[in-house]
Amino acid sequence: MAESMKGLKRTCRCAELNETNVGQTVTVMGWVAKNRNKGGICFVDLRDRSGILQIIFEEDKVGAEGFEKAGSLRSEFVIAVTGEVCNRAGAVNDNIATGKIEVVASDIRILSESQTPPFPIEEDSKTKEDIRLKYRFLDLRRPDLQRILITRSKIATLTRQFLADEGFLEIETPILQKSTPEGARDYLVPSRVHPGSFYALPQSPQLFKQLLMCSGYDRYFQLAKCFRDEDLRADRQPEFTQIDMELSFVDIDDVIDVNERLLHKLFKEVLDIEIELPIQRMTWNEAMNRFGSDKPDIRFGMELVDISDIVKDCGFGVFTGALANGGSVRGINAKGQGAMPRKKIDALVEFAKGYGAKGLAYIAISETGELKSSFTKFMTEDEIKSILDRMDAENGDLLLFAADQTKLVWSVLGALRLEIADELGLRNPAEYKFVWITEFPLFEWSDEQNRLLAMHHPFTMMMEEDIELLDTAPEKVRAKAYDITLNGCEIGGGSVRIHQDDIQKKMFNILGFTDEKAEEQFGFLINAFRYGVPPHAGLAYGLDRLVMLMTKTDNIRDVIAFPKIKDASCLLTGAPDVVEDVQLEELSIKVDIKED
Ligand code: AMO
Ligand code: AMP
Repeated sequence: MAESMKGLKRTCRCAELNETNVGQTVTVMGWVAKNRNKGGICFVDLRDRSGILQIIFEEDKVGAEGFEKAGSLRSEFVIAVTGEVCNRAGAVNDNIATGKIEVVASDIRILSESQTPPFPIEEDSKTKEDIRLKYRFLDLRRPDLQRILITRSKIATLTRQFLADEGFLEIETPILQKSTPEGARDYLVPSRVHPGSFYALPQSPQLFKQLLMCSGYDRYFQLAKCFRDEDLRADRQPEFTQIDMELSFVDIDDVIDVNERLLHKLFKEVLDIEIELPIQRMTWNEAMNRFGSDKPDIRFGMELVDISDIVKDCGFGVFTGALANGGSVRGINAKGQGAMPRKKIDALVEFAKGYGAKGLAYIAISETGELKSSFTKFMTEDEIKSILDRMDAENGDLLLFAADQTKLVWSVLGALRLEIADELGLRNPAEYKFVWITEFPLFEWSDEQNRLLAMHHPFTMMMEEDIELLDTAPEKVRAKAYDITLNGCEIGGGSVRIHQDDIQKKMFNILGFTDEKAEEQFGFLINAFRYGVPPHAGLAYGLDRLVMLMTKTDNIRDVIAFPKIKDASCLLTGAPDVVEDVQLEELSIKVDIKED
């Protein structure tokens, strides 16, 4: 029954019409969202990516055959309608852009029919996500997902325009690469021609963009697909997209400047939000001390406060014990939460334990100033007063304290702060607060691997004034690395790179690479550095995360057309899947699945 397009031409999209088009004859095409047959007249909501348009079918206008077709329309049929744009005869619908008009059909073609869809195609779907992902092609018809993907496309286009105007060249780098350790786990691709050898999919274009700088391309960018085989979370996908860039003959401020202007343009043109420039900068140390996080959400206060010096000689063993072990005691003030029931406080203690805390000490202050606490009985009046002063405590406040190794205290209180803020609705989704985080530690210690790891990556330059610490106190060396964070989310990160081959070699040595191993893994980069390398620096955004924040969704799958679920599989296609034995044979691969 499907009719063809022969002799038909679409004149516009559904929601591109308004009152100024009244009187015009148009041809629109799309999907039937709704068909109400009121006997003698059919009201059809026609949907395309622009929105919804009401079509009226009356027998005297569309003819007997046309009217019969209209009566047969069911949800998701694809139709073409020609007719006249009229002011609505019935009630105006203020909920849709085309609510003042309708098209009175003079002709209809059914371009294809549809089975009954497994779930309604509607905004704010209540259908379970796994069903929607299985039928992603239908899910993607929903207006909310369409709006997000349209915004994503706009962000990509604006980014390309802006960077091209700034003299960046868009250059593609290989997807089939050499596996280099460090960072996340690689996705591997077996080589047929080289049995037993594997390519790795890129975790980022890092090494190639540095090579492009060596080759004189000066300013590079790419919207690059990246692949990381890591455990998935709400803001992580195994394949994701970076806005990736690298610049030659620059230092930190140059990279920050061009990126602030990029963000300004994106927010202005996509959301009509004026970001105030320059964006605030905060050292990593300050971010950790004040917010317990290197991606601080600064839309609200509740900052961490160090009370170690006050309690160093107190009678509470939990506190003095932590200090004796080289740790610290810090707290946050949940303003106005002093009357929180014991059960809820216990839930916060359990939450803190989930982050590795051994417990959580508290002082609850009633509206009339009485203290209820798990530990003040071990304190002198003076100590208690000093704590209350330091914490800016007022009647009705709830003070929560963690005592442990400082890193742990940071992460516990940092997470608790966000948890309480979420509960109290302090994280206003309409507010956008950016912070640059700078002066990251160059290294972090890995207990698991019993060695130093590069906190950003092994090509990151240290602050010049810290170079001499490389031999004596590497853990104190600060990096010329920077992250751009927004509302408590890391949307991008980068660094000035090492361009001196002696420093790069030293870096590899500190990371535990022998000269031979470094040569084997990264020889091509080290070699390139021997032939004239410009000082260079760069940055990459997680495009998906940026789109999430700009479209206010907290689910990364909503901003990716065909995403993977938590176990890295695709519910639509069934990937990953077993392959034919002959394919494995060609690749010289034997599968040996160990039972757990
Ligand atoms: P980095 O590893 O910090 O830096 O990655 C840059 C940005 O990519 C995003 N991102 C992710 N988004 C979705 N899913 C993931 N699994 C995922 N992993 C990372 C984050 C992050 O800020 N080559 C360097 C950049 C540079 O130094 O220029 C790099 O890849 O938003
Ligand atoms: P305990 O001595 O283990 O019974 O703990 C006494 C109180 O101190 C309880 O309220 C615990 O939740 C709290 N507490 C225990 N360990 C810590 C810690 N590391 N930091 C903060 N409070 C703690």
